[in-house]
Amino acid sequence: MKLEWILKRPVDPGLLSLMQIAADQAARAEGLALPCGAAVTLCGDPEIREMNAQFRDMDRATDVLSFPAVSWRKGITAGRDTDRLRRSFDPEEGVCFLGDVVISLDHVKAQALEFGHSQAREAAYLLVHSLCHLMGYDHMEEEEKRAMREKEEEILSAVGVNREGGAAVSDEVLLSLARDAMTRSYSPYSHYPVGAALLASDGRIFQGCNIENASFGATICAERTAMVKAVSEGARQFDTIAIATGDTPGWPCGICRQFMSEFAPDLRVIVTWGDGKHVEEGRLSELLPHQFELKDE
Ligand code: THU
Repeated sequence: MKLEWILKRPVDPGLLSLMQIAADQAARAEGLALPCGAAVTLCGDPEIREMNAQFRDMDRATDVLSFPAVSWRKGITAGRDTDRLRRSFDPEEGVCFLGDVVISLDHVKAQALEFGHSQAREAAYLLVHSLCHLMGYDHMEEEEKRAMREKEEEILSAVGVNREGGAAVSDEVLLSLARDAMTRSYSPYSHYPVGAALLASDGRIFQGCNIENASFGATICAERTAMVKAVSEGARQFDTIAIATGDTPGWPCGICRQFMSEFAPDLRVIVTWGDGKHVEEGRLSELLPHQFELKDE
């Protein structure tokens, strides 16, 4: 799914990546016969309130607004009405435009806190809900409500972030986020891009890439970038790190093994390479036996 982002404030790239994965899974779960697109505005409560007042005559902030571009027949959603989908094809953009999604990041933050999960996860929920509307689902009547909930659950489970459970982020999501982080690698000297996605036990995901320096020794690896971001945001416990590299497997270097063992001596490590064709996993305790630690006596 091609998403056109309209960002009214700075947004964490990890949140955008999870939303993109959710949108791709929505397209897959619905079985859309043609490439589709949507415009996604991420703003604050004041902006969403203004739109709610302007377009829906409701002068209050809300979490998400959906503006479908296609009017689907009742109960016949985008996957089952390819004719209607085809008529919305925009040859310039190369996609069928499904409509506009507006999400309030203030609501994302508050609801994530309330449910005890990450903001990325909450944003992905809201996007999936809204995309279901754009694809013709509704929840006015009991039967259609059930169909919409089922589709939402199908999509969210494929992303690995279903409504129940703690940090049930799938390996597929983590690996995609690692590959996504790899695209931001700054590696003009080695030409060896690395990306990482670190899953904290509270469900937050932190991405990192390698950042090289003309003074070679000042280079920081992807894994440490991710963990430094995480610890500086208050995360101290971690479940899994996914690491993506190009043609050859990128098991963490010795410094990263020691660095990560400070917080997660038995961290699960998954590596992927060769355009995601290869995946292997291990435990940090196996990669770094007898790690150096200063124990309180
Ligand atoms: N690199 C990582 O990002 N992670 C590792 O665990 C191994 C090495 C980076 C550092 C440098 O930018 C490039 O890979 C080549 O060494």
